[in-house]
Amino acid sequence: MISNDISKAIEILNNEDVVAIPTETVYGLAGNIYSEKAIRKIFQVKQRPLFNPLIVHIHSIEKIEEIVSEFPEKAKLLATAFWPGSLTLVLKKKPNIPDLITAGKNTVAVRIPNHPVTLSLLKKLSFPLAAPSANPFGSISPTNSTHVANYFRNTIPMVLEGGQCENGIESTIVGFENNEAILYRLGSISIEEIENVIGKLKVKNKKEIAPNAPGMLARHYAPKTKTFLVKDIEEFMKNYTHKKIGMLRFSSNINFSRSAHLEVLSKNGDLKEAASNLYAALHRLDQLNLDMIVAELFPDIGLGKSINDRLERATKNK
Ligand code: TXA
Ligand code: MG
Repeated sequence: MISNDISKAIEILNNEDVVAIPTETVYGLAGNIYSEKAIRKIFQVKQRPLFNPLIVHIHSIEKIEEIVSEFPEKAKLLATAFWPGSLTLVLKKKPNIPDLITAGKNTVAVRIPNHPVTLSLLKKLSFPLAAPSANPFGSISPTNSTHVANYFRNTIPMVLEGGQCENGIESTIVGFENNEAILYRLGSISIEEIENVIGKLKVKNKKEIAPNAPGMLARHYAPKTKTFLVKDIEEFMKNYTHKKIGMLRFSSNINFSRSAHLEVLSKNGDLKEAASNLYAALHRLDQLNLDMIVAELFPDIGLGKSINDRLERATKNK
């Protein structure tokens, strides 16, 4: 089911079925935005509630006219600065965008992914692709083709191979309300990078954002293993000397117990590298039948904020 064959992917998508596709953030589960059959299959395979809208993926900025009715100046600046790339813009939609994609909203989320395989696929299709992350609703997002195959081997026809996702966490989502830019989801592009282009970004508190961006649902991106997020990992370990523990650390390779499995996300303390390794490390730890996973809080700057956001959601109770 994992394959490099772009022509096969085109054939499946033209037949209104779904294909998992690589992007620079995470793998997506893709279908023709105009095919009700394909879009319903995406929701069904992911077990995703219909009130949670999808992101539309296009290959060039000219295509945006087909999707949105307004393209504000600040949105243009962001698109120019970051596309192709890990920024999703939420804009007023054109009437032809199906309600299934937008969950009935008058806005649509859109981005140009920065992955050569998927860009070349999109160029050969006559329609844009809707693609949520290719994981069952609420679980850890996939950053390689094997993660996707492990989730959906029996329910989707094909995963298009594109290697390891370079950025490793989802796109940053920005919308506009009354001409003001608003952050809906932290992600691969930091708040600081966005503010460098358009100035101050309004960050709503999480409760306010929740109904708009269910990627903001409290428990999300979660391993099956009970997971904790702590400031002081050494202190935490003192209480659990007899447990089989998976430890997720930023740059320190200190292991406090012989029964602990250690994942260090960036030996050099590079937040971009850490973000890129985050989900793969969680997938590995989750497969070890551990009693628990404990992650340490990351520095609250740049991509550290996005990593902490994902870890907080991974550690929320059901
Ligand atoms: O990096 C990514 O964004 C990946 C890759 C595959 O592109 N996709 C992804 O999709 O993360 P998904 O469906 O897992 O998350 C999309 C988020 C959801 O939280 C959804 O609520 C939000 O985008 N969203 C979609 N349309 C929206 C809209 N009109 N207004 C506000 N939020 C929206
Ligand atoms: Mg997702």
